Amino acid sequence: MRFHLVASFRLSADAGDAEEEIADFFDDGASEILQKGASQGQGSKIVGWELSGDKIRLDIRSDRYVRAHDAILRLRKPLATILGKKYRVGIRGLDVEKFEIEVESKKTIPHKIPYVKEIEHQEGVLKLILDVGEADGQIGEPELKNNVPDRIVNLLDDKLQEGYGGKAEHWELLWESAPRVPKFEKDPTKELIDRGWIKHGSSRGQWIYGPQGAHLFRVLERIVMEDIIEPLGYQEMIFPKLVTWDVWKKSGHAQGVYPEIYYVCPPKTRDPVHWEEVMDYYKVTGEVPTKLIKEKIGEPIGGMCYAQCPPSWVFFQGGTLPNDSLPVKIFDRSGTSHRYESGGIHGIERVDEFHRIEIVWMGTSEQVKEEAEKLKDRYHKIFEDVLELHWRMAWVTPWFMAQEGKAGLSELEEAGTVDYEALLPYNGDWLEFQNLSNNGYKYPKGFNVKAQSGEQLWSGCSGVGLERWASAFLAQKGLDVENWPEAFRERFGEMPEGIRFL
Ligand code: SER
Ligand code: ZN
Repeated sequence: MRFHLVASFRLSADAGDAEEEIADFFDDGASEILQKGASQGQGSKIVGWELSGDKIRLDIRSDRYVRAHDAILRLRKPLATILGKKYRVGIRGLDVEKFEIEVESKKTIPHKIPYVKEIEHQEGVLKLILDVGEADGQIGEPELKNNVPDRIVNLLDDKLQEGYGGKAEHWELLWESAPRVPKFEKDPTKELIDRGWIKHGSSRGQWIYGPQGAHLFRVLERIVMEDIIEPLGYQEMIFPKLVTWDVWKKSGHAQGVYPEIYYVCPPKTRDPVHWEEVMDYYKVTGEVPTKLIKEKIGEPIGGMCYAQCPPSWVFFQGGTLPNDSLPVKIFDRSGTSHRYESGGIHGIERVDEFHRIEIVWMGTSEQVKEEAEKLKDRYHKIFEDVLELHWRMAWVTPWFMAQEGKAGLSELEEAGTVDYEALLPYNGDWLEFQNLSNNGYKYPKGFNVKAQSGEQLWSGCSGVGLERWASAFLAQKGLDVENWPEAFRERFGEMPEGIRFL
């Protein structure tokens, strides 16, 4: 990666008298400043400079180690010292004349990037010509100081990584249960529909659970309550289900969640007059004028609940948790999560609207790890002794990175996600039916939550997806109660009669 920056320091007066000292500085002291922190032969180089009246114009080229924009900011203070002491000349500002970034790349970027005027791709080199100046959307001094070029570089790094878009996620088997002879080998969703336990809702990837389906979910939920939540002492909270950009900026979702969220737009006004046209149109045509509605609603303020835990952090934001309250242990089961699942929707296994119990804990890193182990033990007992599943655990790309669009593992070795997967006998695939994560300091940092001791706060979360638990269980055991494990049958009780149709 190469940078080419041409910019001028604007001076408070003509600095002609100082020319010799400035020359000495650029011949000697400056190069040390520009190589500092970089290895031999790396860093920035001033390839040309020129003093004309009240301007010092610099032509800087660099690699990625001391980037040209950092270099010029580093030069300001020593130059100001030279000019100020003896010559009473001050530095007023910096005018950027040219800024280009070049990187080797087989591919180009097919769309606009903020602050980039032109993108050229020739002979394996991608060149970004930045728009420079004082106007909005141009790179000037404030943008250099606010790390805008670095953010563009990070974006490039992300994009040019091998296989961008279809990046391989990390997956590493941790443990697998003994195989079990399946009691059922069909697609459970088909069977659920045939027996009238569920019906498709009117929206994509959405199901309506009849009394039998609802009872099954409630029993699974009760197992989570009785075998995990209550013995481990988690307190119930109610998390918001409409999530604003502000939350997703702090959680990292704002980086990559766009293709999958259901957007929420408020009306521009609740004045009925503003909406009369829409109402009248519907009354006359019987059609809802969605194009017209689009004109009358505001921009999206965020989206519907996606990952469940992020909006809960607003409750803790800016707070300090007393030592004796740690680990804080909470959970939410107050509503649905929504994901635009594209082509991937299948039965109740992959849906756009789902039900999940979200378990969240926070404390010191030790406490967070310890709590994760306790939860893992509890899950293990349920999957082995109550549901009797053929299941496995894998160490995967942390959910918080995957949802930001990043592959690989967390920079903190202990932070990351364990996926729980169950075998679906009808197609031989493994279905991720829940996860458990140590989220490191990501959330306390993002939402500025502290521990009284001053020690860095960590957190973890675990999502129990009821559709996924039901899919795993029913795919392996079927819908006939007599084939279900004894322990589960006891918890299940009576099967509701259900709704009948003529
Ligand atoms: N918040 C986590 C996730 O979205 C656990 O539910 O995967
Ligand atoms: Zn979570």
